[in-house]
Amino acid sequence: MVFNSSIRYVDDSLAIDNIKLDTIARAVGTPAYIYSLKRVGENYAGLRAAFAPLQARIHYSVKANSSLAILQTLAGAGAGFDCVSAGEIDRCLRAGACANDIVFAGVGKTRAEIAFAVAKGIGWFNVENLAELRYINECAVDAGADAVKVALRLNPQVTANTHPFMATGHGAAKFGLTAAVIRDILARRNEWPQLEFAGVHIHIGSQLGDTAATLSALDAALNLIADQPGIRTVNLGGGLPVAYHFDDAAPSPEGLVNELAPRLKGYEVLLEPGRSLVADAGLLVAELLYVKRQAGQVFYIIDASMAELIRPALYDAHHEVAPLRKTKGETVTAQVVGPVCESADVLARDRQLPALGAGDLVALMTAGAYGMSMASNYNARPRPAEVVVSEAGEGWRISRRRETVGDLYRMESK
Ligand code: LLP
Repeated sequence: MVFNSSIRYVDDSLAIDNIKLDTIARAVGTPAYIYSLKRVGENYAGLRAAFAPLQARIHYSVKANSSLAILQTLAGAGAGFDCVSAGEIDRCLRAGACANDIVFAGVGKTRAEIAFAVAKGIGWFNVENLAELRYINECAVDAGADAVKVALRLNPQVTANTHPFMATGHGAAKFGLTAAVIRDILARRNEWPQLEFAGVHIHIGSQLGDTAATLSALDAALNLIADQPGIRTVNLGGGLPVAYHFDDAAPSPEGLVNELAPRLKGYEVLLEPGRSLVADAGLLVAELLYVKRQAGQVFYIIDASMAELIRPALYDAHHEVAPLRKTKGETVTAQVVGPVCESADVLARDRQLPALGAGDLVALMTAGAYGMSMASNYNARPRPAEVVVSEAGEGWRISRRRETVGDLYRMESK
């Protein structure tokens, strides 16, 4: 479901918790990302409960949405964090995260980033490169840190059933290390005396619709560490799916947990969910600028574009479009497009929508994950404002102001 206990129609007005969205949109302007912190907290609590049989430690994958307000909410609820850059680590620390609760992952960590993370006392490094081990070890020596915890990321050679751009576990992907390389590293572990090889990591992709691929990746990882008594932690990565269609139900994680539990007895389990914690807690509000009828089609031209929400252009991803004011009556088949000069700037194709006019407001639903975090300034478009509705659901504030055209010059010299 795209609607939930926080984001739904109240008296025909789209609302987040106790706030009607047109109130916010009128005050803040459009386009604007709006998030329910209450929903973020509930998603976290729900996932923790679902994974309670595994006593899984949840590290929120910051790339999905790195808004400080969201990081603060999750840090306050006790989450750890999965970061892929010094920038993300810095944001988590600023949001109040404990360094030890941060995992630093990524195929291309720079030496400067590794040095920063070691100096900060980051809890885990997910390593996917032999040379990285030497860098981490050297940084640990420099920082006087011993026992930096490492999880080696296995490329399990499993193809997830998802969009090819979101599959990371197949043999041809740049991600992870082969089982042979991991065995070699573990046999030579004395070469990196500051490192504690304590975990194995898998992440085979995102928006994983079925559990079979996850389980075979896990089996490959467990098989690899079966004779490694020092490796007691299994990081299962992220990838839990969410529903992007009105009539979809996201599969509940309980089925997966039932399959995982017997396999993971005796292991400490880490999870790195991104999307499943924030996607359905946010939306992007836009204003309809023009209705253009051309070539037998109806184009709803809105003031949001692929610069603000790139997922439809990049992955052919589906986001439902919901008018802020629900109206009855006839519908039209509309192409919802943005102002950007690209044919790919189509946010929603062939949608049955009410007959709307210039000035009407619509929401692109389920946009809390990989929306603002992937937004760009393409076409010299200032990035949108972000608004959070408080955890109590009663108040709202601008958590990131809208960029101005002036902001875009700040880093540039003539
Ligand atoms: N862990 C690792 C190592 C990852 O690479 C990712 C996502 C996650 C965890 C979190 O995955 P999640 O739970 O969010 O599925 N931009 C795409 C998704 C790419 C995800 C990249 N890695 C999108 O808009 O759908």
